[in-house]
Amino acid sequence: MNRVAANGIHLNVLDRGHGAPILFVHGFPLNHTMWHAQLDALSDQFRVIAPDLRGFGHSSVMQGTVSMERFADDLNGLIDALGVNETVTLCGLSMGGYIALAFARKFGHRLRSLILCDTRAVGDSPEAMAGRKKLAAGVLEHGPELVATAMLPKLFAVETTDRRPEVVAAVRSMVTSSHPHGIAAALQGMAQRPDSSELLSQIEVPVLLIVGREDKISTVDEMRTMSQAIKRSEFVEIPAAGHMAPMENPESVNAAMRKFLSTRTW
Ligand code: MLT
Repeated sequence: MNRVAANGIHLNVLDRGHGAPILFVHGFPLNHTMWHAQLDALSDQFRVIAPDLRGFGHSSVMQGTVSMERFADDLNGLIDALGVNETVTLCGLSMGGYIALAFARKFGHRLRSLILCDTRAVGDSPEAMAGRKKLAAGVLEHGPELVATAMLPKLFAVETTDRRPEVVAAVRSMVTSSHPHGIAAALQGMAQRPDSSELLSQIEVPVLLIVGREDKISTVDEMRTMSQAIKRSEFVEIPAAGHMAPMENPESVNAAMRKFLSTRTW
């Protein structure tokens, strides 16, 4: 792991392999280790770059609000700091997907392609916004266990809950080891993120959309609709997986990514 100065902070980042770069952006409130299976599989053919976002893992923690745009600025600074001069494939899960869309809006010229996993283009409803603000206040008072209790029941397919306790335990451990200020700042940032639905038709690069068939947060129907709005899109449903598809069914996710990455005529 490297500790890299970027955009005024320090980011903890795994940077491994050679070839076209793929930047992996984790979901909320996790860290780069959620991509373990993809990093292992794809680093034989690609340069895989997986940071802990600001406020998570071993990266610098901020109080207040971290907007999706600020996270995108951090990623832009990170690839500069790592000397990445060519365009990148940006792969984001859920909040990582919100950040990928913010990156596409601001730094579209740096993209080779996008992989959007279990994510949404719409902004928060007023109710969702209020829920995030309440959770942000709660986590600062009571700690991250509160977030684990609220989120974990929604994250997995039945098969994962019944037969893959190690996946559930790994996610729980990422959530409960996250810093309360990092969690609260990302919640505030997600609450104020703009609706990106209009952006989808303006994305010019190829986009792979991946969704766990049992995802209750970003559903199959919602992600299929997103893919229909994007000019050059591919849509893949992952069986036996929910919101954490890359961890729940890594074989299918890796196969979909490899096919997308290797069959494109860039
Ligand atoms: C995530 O997995 O990053 C979260 O579910 C995103 C969200 O809370 O909207």
